[in-house]
Amino acid sequence: MKRIFYTPAIFEQSTLADAKRIILTVPPDILDDFWQRATRATADLILEALLPTEQSTLLDFGCGIGRLAKELIQRTGCKIVGVDISASMRRLAVEYVASDRFSAISSDEFARLAANKTAAFSGAYSIVVLQHVLDPATELRRIAATCAAAAPLFVYNCINRCVPTNLGFANDGQDIGRLASEIFAFKQEFDVPRDLLLYPDRGPMPGEIESHWFRLFVNERRGSA
Ligand SMILES: C[S@@+](CC[C@H](N)C(=O)[O-])C[C@H]1O[C@@H](n2cnc3c(N)ncnc32)[C@H](O)[C@@H]1O
Repeated sequence: MKRIFYTPAIFEQSTLADAKRIILTVPPDILDDFWQRATRATADLILEALLPTEQSTLLDFGCGIGRLAKELIQRTGCKIVGVDISASMRRLAVEYVASDRFSAISSDEFARLAANKTAAFSGAYSIVVLQHVLDPATELRRIAATCAAAAPLFVYNCINRCVPTNLGFANDGQDIGRLASEIFAFKQEFDVPRDLLLYPDRGPMPGEIESHWFRLFVNERRGSA
């Protein structure tokens, strides 16, 4: 029997085009259109949930190439610190966001920030990331430790776990919604925006609405990282 082990190598992509294909796994013929409308619709939810201003500094956990960071900075002038496990995503993010209001840090740097409790982000968001994370409880505790007390956390997540392994994506059965509610306080669930459907004109595909959730949490119980 083949041994199975965690490997996030799939997130190392050298070009913007390849990174986009990994970030939004939709049919190639709708990728550009979906990228635009999904980014706008997701940013709308983040703005409603986190209410950032020019004075805010947000944490983007699993920033990828900075898809949401770019949109949010353009729309509000807030500052954003992106964390990503992938060195190539972080490099592409700095190029793609192209703003001195954005910076990208590694997972190790993020762990150090959390341990030192030197950051106090005004809010955080994590968009289609936590389903891929090997140890989501630890990362959620780090998010809590780097955010100010009562800071909001917005999560858009896939129901099924998709942990990258040497044998493809695996479902280890962990429940991210339950974990997040243990570390933060659950505040609100959002409906799936129409622009996040693959084909808005045809309506939802079977199971499409149920495949993801959009939730707002509050940092009431600061985690020790
Ligand atoms: C599907 S992409 C989403 C990117 C971005 N949030 C977006 O919506 O455009 C998932 C991202 O999570 C990152 N990631 C996966 N595991 C991570 C971890 N443990 N810590 C930080 N980032 C992680 C990947 O490298 C990848 O960039």
